[in-house]
Amino acid sequence: MFGLVWYILLCSRVVFAISVDPLPRPHNVTWFGDSAIVLDLDAIELKELEGGEGISNSLVQGAFERAVADIKTVKWSPYLYSNVTSHCPESKAQAPNVVTVAIADYDADLQFGVDESYELHIDEGGINISSETIWGTLHALTTLQQMVVYQCGQYFVEQYVHIQDYPLFKHRGLMVDSARNFLPVNKIMEQIELMALSKMNTLHWHLVDSQSWPVEIASHPEMTQDAYSAREVYTQKDVLNVVNFARSRGVRLVPEIDMPGHARAGWRKVDPDIVECADVFWTDAAVEPPPGQLNIMNNETYFVIGDVYHELSNLFHDHYFHVGNDELQKDCYPNSWYDNATLSDITQHYIDRALPIYNSVPGRQLVMWDDVLLSDGAVESLPSNVTLQTWHEVSGVKNLTSRGYNVIVSSSDHLYLDCGYGGFLTNDWRYIDASQNVEFNTCKGGSWCGPYKTWQRIYTFDFLSNLTQSEQELVVGAEAVLWSEQVDFAVLTGKIWPRASALGESLWSGNKNEKGEFRLYEMSTRIVQFREYMVSLGFAVSPLVPRFCLFNPHACDAEKPPNHV
Ligand SMILES: *[C@@H]1O[C@H](CO)[C@@H](O)[C@H](O)[C@H]1NC(C)=O
Ligand SMILES: *[C@@H]1O[C@H](CO)[C@@H](O)[C@H](O)[C@H]1NC(C)=O
Ligand SMILES: *[C@@H]1O[C@H](CO)[C@@H](O)[C@H](O)[C@H]1NC(C)=O
Ligand SMILES: *[C@@H]1O[C@H](CO)[C@@H](O)[C@H](O)[C@H]1NC(C)=O
Ligand SMILES: *[C@@H]1O[C@H](CO)[C@@H](O)[C@H](O)[C@H]1NC(C)=O
Ligand SMILES: *[C@@H]1O[C@H](CO)[C@@H](O)[C@H](O)[C@H]1NC(C)=O
Ligand SMILES: *[C@@H]1O[C@H](CO)[C@@H](O)[C@H](O)[C@H]1NC(C)=O
Ligand SMILES: *[C@@H]1O[C@H](CO)[C@@H](O)[C@H](O)[C@H]1NC(C)=O
Repeated sequence: MFGLVWYILLCSRVVFAISVDPLPRPHNVTWFGDSAIVLDLDAIELKELEGGEGISNSLVQGAFERAVADIKTVKWSPYLYSNVTSHCPESKAQAPNVVTVAIADYDADLQFGVDESYELHIDEGGINISSETIWGTLHALTTLQQMVVYQCGQYFVEQYVHIQDYPLFKHRGLMVDSARNFLPVNKIMEQIELMALSKMNTLHWHLVDSQSWPVEIASHPEMTQDAYSAREVYTQKDVLNVVNFARSRGVRLVPEIDMPGHARAGWRKVDPDIVECADVFWTDAAVEPPPGQLNIMNNETYFVIGDVYHELSNLFHDHYFHVGNDELQKDCYPNSWYDNATLSDITQHYIDRALPIYNSVPGRQLVMWDDVLLSDGAVESLPSNVTLQTWHEVSGVKNLTSRGYNVIVSSSDHLYLDCGYGGFLTNDWRYIDASQNVEFNTCKGGSWCGPYKTWQRIYTFDFLSNLTQSEQELVVGAEAVLWSEQVDFAVLTGKIWPRASALGESLWSGNKNEKGEFRLYEMSTRIVQFREYMVSLGFAVSPLVPRFCLFNPHACDAEKPPNHV
């Protein structure tokens, strides 16, 4: 056993208790030998092998240096030791201070589906990492840094160990929204660092919405007149910095421009005629203020879409691009449009005009919200190579995979991190204590998607259940989503973490043990420890439990053992 369960070697003498418990839990961990490996972090070196030739890759070198720096910053001592005055290894070996890395394919690009597996071997001969690609080695290093303990003035790995590890899902995502409130570049980078630590590999950046347009578009510089201020703008250099930062952490960056709904800011500055219903009161034409949808009957609209899309396609290197398509409102468009058409016909008209623009980028993989196939504006015909992100009922996953579509699961009932904080509408009389408001305030927790999704709800979300084998194969992964109506730099990190780490583990190595039961028992201590690990690195991550529970593993479990152990 690995992790919290004390590890006792069957050789008559208790050698050592393994206390480290990296998150996500690696697939296959084998502890062996009978001594700890002491590391001298001031002397430790990276050696890259390629067919026996020493070479140096800057991404690998950077990741190695960060891992070493993090180990020194954190001086990790799992809280299992907190009541032990000293926990020095009884038997220790001094290994060569070399991390040897063997990568088979240095050229594999960071794109959907790239091989991210790795092996990590630590014994008296040193530390060896092998992986197919650079991206696997990056994951090996975030595991390694969580394996090193600092006690008695020494850094050490508690025993010899061999780890074989790989992800269950190719798309392990997080969505952030920089339009409802602006998110500073350094705060976006912070999320990327925490994603890398949790082995999550895709940041979906919902760049713009009807409220603001913060991203610089060179062909239409007037669009950022609808940023909240001149300082709340992402220059193209900022975007490239974020893209490169993410890449150096093994995180793909997928942009979203939400169209044709959720569109007002920015577009209207290019030409007011390409936006409809921007000036009515929002309740007449939108799901939240302010209203606005692209005028999909206007030819000019498609020229502007093309300019924005092509420019951003050059900044973001990912094959994937999210083109939105959620919550198109019938009431935004003129009644006359519906004389001979339904909302579905109108959406289809847009899709048929816009797809050739989107598909003109070679290798492009499009992502859309599930509304395009599962709402009253659903279209009849959508190419089967579009990936759908499901946020409505979980049953949509079966519906869409059974129709042959790839799906990213983001069920609002499980994976929306903004739920449970109430709503943001002001002067909202639904909060007044009155009998007609009981349902809203009590059952719905005062918001459309309450209550709050706890890490345990996220972790035990079994989104493959009820799917056939072939349907399961089309689920490419999942994404935790944080909308920003009530989020900016002040609360971003704390609202996402450590809850998103629970999804990170579920998507990397699963949420069940060998017996097929949810491994909530071991995850409970792992995630509570991991939260402390992130705090030790300086991140303002939310606490999950009273500190007492950190110091007293399982004393805070909901049930007395042996239930659910
Ligand atoms: C785990 O690793 C051990 C040692 O390398 C190996 O014998 C075993 O087959 C692996 N198990 C799995 C499930 O990969
Ligand atoms: C530390 O705490 C654990 C869990 O409460 C307990 O089992 C162990 O005996 C304690 N160790 C010491 C040295 O007090
Ligand atoms: C680790 O790498 C070194 C250097 O290539 C090699 O000599 C050693 O055999 C490797 N150890 C294992 C267990 O693979
Ligand atoms: C709009 O574009 C369509 C398709 O390219 C074209 O058939 C139509 O004539 C254009 N309408 C106007 C008013 O330019
Ligand atoms: C409805 O009919 C008018 C007039 O024939 C046509 O211009 C328009 O494109 C049609 N709308 C749709 C959505 O088919
Ligand atoms: C997806 O399908 C559309 C329509 O069939 C096609 O034009 C496009 O090239 C396809 N995209 C890819 C990446 O194969
Ligand atoms: C998928 O959902 C749509 C819209 O609710 C429904 O019309 C359709 O029958 C469903 N298809 C399948 C295969 O479940
Ligand atoms: C699976 O089906 C059951 C029974 O219909 C339903 O209660 C449950 O929500 C479904 N779960 C998922 C993840 O689709």
